[in-house]
Amino acid sequence: MAMQTLYIDKSDVDNAVTHWRAGALVAFPTETVYGLGADACNGEAVARIYSVKSRPQFNPLIVHVADVETAQRYVQWSDAAQQLADAFWAGPMTLILPRRTDSPISELVSAGGNTIGIRIPSHPVALQLLRAFDGGIAAPSANRSGRVSPTLAAHVQEELGGAIAQIIDGGACTVGLESTVIDLSGAHPVILRPGSITREMISAILPVAAVEGESGSALKSPGQLESHYAPSIPVRLNATEVGEREALLAFGDVVPAGAATTLNLSPRGDLLEAAANLFAYLRALDNGYHQGIAVMPIPNVGVGEAINDRLRRAAHR
Ligand code: TXA
Ligand code: MG
Repeated sequence: MAMQTLYIDKSDVDNAVTHWRAGALVAFPTETVYGLGADACNGEAVARIYSVKSRPQFNPLIVHVADVETAQRYVQWSDAAQQLADAFWAGPMTLILPRRTDSPISELVSAGGNTIGIRIPSHPVALQLLRAFDGGIAAPSANRSGRVSPTLAAHVQEELGGAIAQIIDGGACTVGLESTVIDLSGAHPVILRPGSITREMISAILPVAAVEGESGSALKSPGQLESHYAPSIPVRLNATEVGEREALLAFGDVVPAGAATTLNLSPRGDLLEAAANLFAYLRALDNGYHQGIAVMPIPNVGVGEAINDRLRRAAHR
């Protein structure tokens, strides 16, 4: 079982804070995926994120904070935000809220819009860092644009090592899927990106509209771009048999034979375990030897909705 680090040395925390204050980039662990962090109030530092990731300029960034009081300095708080925060923070949920008119957060974080995505991660190392920094850290997933999100420090090292000041190793991400993004800036809450905080869980707190982006609706959350989480070889979904040059991403205890390589997301059919393994296994199977990756069907319930969302994007080319 993948392990999460509970705390890091004070000297590593001090280094990270020094880098952030100087406008440099530090990658850090969250419970979802690793983030590529910069001081959210420093426009030049935020711009550095876009250039290191080669990310299209229009994609807004999530601001990470240690507590609700800090969030309230940046966004217009609301009863709905408080209800969801009480239920799911610290945790894998991002709330999109209107900017405060006096918000010190760089406009680049909002990518020209008038909202900010904000979240309190639950990873103890992320909280250790955010408390020490005492402010907002803007961070997208710490991968190059269009690639799968990193769930180990080694993934970040592979893709971005050399281009950034520091990588904090917090072990394996326990959730493994990016946060659920909920837009609270309109009349009704809308789920912009499914995640491990499921629609069922959110609906128990607040009425929500259907998942956006499923039927070609407006591009509100650019993370909803069709091809976003992409291995370099073709991904084939709902596979019930497999070719000899194909890799198989399996699920459950009944697995077709004959694949060149098989990795099982969860032999016991546990969707949370599958989510935690998803990106690391896609990366491991994505190599020149395989013609493609065949993926077994994943039940579309609970976190399965988010897993299938990421798999559809990985398969789109
Ligand atoms: O779990 C996560 O959310 C990770 C960790 C590092 O926190 N972060 C992450 O960031 O996945 P990124 O940049 O790869 O994806 C952020 C998503 C994108 O789909 C982006 O469009 C959306 O959140 N988003 C951020 N701010 C937004 C805003 N103000 N309005 C609409 N969508 C926003
Ligand atoms: Mg990303």
